[in-house]
Amino acid sequence: MTNNPHSVAYAALLDERRRELRALMVQTLPYRRPFVWEVGCGHGHFLTAYARAHPDKWCVGVDIAGERIERALRKRDRAKLANLHFIRTEAGLFLECLSHESLLSELFVLFPDPWPKLRHHKHRIMQPTFLTTVATRAAKDCRLYFRTDYEPYFNDTSAVIDRHARWRRVEETWPFEYKTVFQSRASAHRSLIARLQP
Ligand SMILES: C[S@@+](CC[C@H](N)C(=O)[O-])C[C@H]1O[C@@H](n2cnc3c(N)ncnc32)[C@H](O)[C@@H]1O
Repeated sequence: MTNNPHSVAYAALLDERRRELRALMVQTLPYRRPFVWEVGCGHGHFLTAYARAHPDKWCVGVDIAGERIERALRKRDRAKLANLHFIRTEAGLFLECLSHESLLSELFVLFPDPWPKLRHHKHRIMQPTFLTTVATRAAKDCRLYFRTDYEPYFNDTSAVIDRHARWRRVEETWPFEYKTVFQSRASAHRSLIARLQP
């Protein structure tokens, strides 16, 4: 417990954000139906194409950048896709606020920020703790699709998954090809698919 007025104000702000996010998620997430989640969806190019091609799947993209989510929502509205939603939020906060009735069927992490400097690796999304939290919110046989143009991040993520008790790399075909903004700028990329273990 702290009496620092800045910490108190920050904690209150975060509580308010959690309340708003939970309310938004109740409106936008399917009840007791697994959904496809894209982390760091940017302008939503990939997930819009994916949702259009899979009208039977519920798709939700999140990104911390408000301007990117606004563009993604405009794209969704133009495409008139009722199975697609975008939410501005940090991925960890999204998982924290996710109702226990909602489970992930697939997770896409495409060209996440690579944070190349060793001292910045802690900011990377693909961390053991993140994978553990995702595993607790994932439906049976959930697949994680990861793609990057930064070879060291690919190698580090492969190692993190290989050491993780709940995820196994699998040799499967990439389920859907559609270039993201960062993919169209990259000269090459590496992909991996992991499957949730029972
Ligand atoms: C390098 S961009 C890639 C965007 C898109 N996936 C693509 O391939 O074009 C990484 C995106 O992840 C978002 N991002 C970074 N950390 C995040 C986090 N913890 N939660 C949600 N979004 C995050 C950034 O705002 C940015 O839009």
